Amino acid sequence: MKILRTVKEIQEFALNAKKAGRTIGLVPTMGALHEGHLTLMRTARAKCDVVIASVFVNPTQFGPNEDYEKYPRRFAEDEKKMETVGIDAVFHPEPSEMYPERYCTYVTVEGDFTHKLCGATRPIHFRGVATVVTKLINLARADEAFFGQKDAQQVCVVRRFVEDLNINCHINMVPIVREPSGLARSSRNEYMSPEERARAAVLYESLKLGKAAYDKGERDAEILKKIVRGRLEAEPFVKQIDYVEILTFPYLDDIKTVEGECLMAIACYVGKTRLIDNVILGQGE
Ligand code: PAF
Repeated sequence: MKILRTVKEIQEFALNAKKAGRTIGLVPTMGALHEGHLTLMRTARAKCDVVIASVFVNPTQFGPNEDYEKYPRRFAEDEKKMETVGIDAVFHPEPSEMYPERYCTYVTVEGDFTHKLCGATRPIHFRGVATVVTKLINLARADEAFFGQKDAQQVCVVRRFVEDLNINCHINMVPIVREPSGLARSSRNEYMSPEERARAAVLYESLKLGKAAYDKGERDAEILKKIVRGRLEAEPFVKQIDYVEILTFPYLDDIKTVEGECLMAIACYVGKTRLIDNVILGQGE
């Protein structure tokens, strides 16, 4: 497994793979790898000739009061985990390599949907994500890129700009990987105390209640949201609910009645940790 730290190194690696006629899969991550990331990597491994993972805590997607400084960084451990999946190369640049002096170009997805869900409380987040993912796809010459469904809005944003900017890369969305309690795997889970972590299972429990009502035939979005919110509100460890939403997927339009594929998504704080989770209703129906 090659470790690439500079723009020049990843460009050379990708060019050589392309010249040899190989398909390239990219798995962008911010490190602190867990089973969710490794599942993305295994999916990429099965689909592409060459797999490049990136480990980069991207400063431009964090707001001023967010957890950029605190975000876990442990590259040595990550390296060992990636070895077990058979990654070909890891791109692990310094922030100054990605954003050198005089850097001033950003990708902004302007659709209304970027201001919904996490965009409402994280106003610069998706601009940072769109910018870094554009750079990574470009650097890796990726034919395929792999993202987790946990960040479903991120997938919608990436698919939007890839289509709008005619970027020749297929965006794969890989199902959520959960802890035995049902809690969606996330690098931020480790911010919680063991008790908070156990109580955080309420996110998925509340979504499952909504899904069960949907499965019984309920299609009124307000009623479904009330069911989900009710379960979250009953958990004393849930300190603040950012949103409980049901929107069309992948365009994230508002709806009154659930029809076709819809994203049922929640964000809330357990203690001081902000968590998100979602379920897609109507998938494959
Ligand atoms: O999902 C993440 O970890 C990040 O938003 C990503 C896609 C690696 C971009 O920094």
